[in-house]
Amino acid sequence: MEESQVEETVTLIFDGKEITVPAGISVAAAVLGHTHPDETYTNPVDGSPRAPYCLMGVCFECMLEVNGEPNVQSCLVAVQEGMVVKRQLQTGEAK
Ligand code: FES
Repeated sequence: MEESQVEETVTLIFDGKEITVPAGISVAAAVLGHTHPDETYTNPVDGSPRAPYCLMGVCFECMLEVNGEPNVQSCLVAVQEGMVVKRQLQTGEAK
């Protein structure tokens, strides 16, 4: 593999576990690649399973807690080194 083909990666923490993913992808894509959506995304009102659908900021089915901020549309946020991401099991409150 040529040096120009080496893929850059970043490591983030998802629910306490380190996951290493390609740089530049969305948090939603990173999480989808490492978990089953039924175990990750839940409706904060009734707890039913949900999953990212549009991946372009329209459906709001991908909300997670990112770096302590609840209700983040994870499809619109690029992964960053050291980012801390958590499942959002409740509606979340502004901090
Ligand atoms: S997947 Fe639809 S808003 Fe993120």
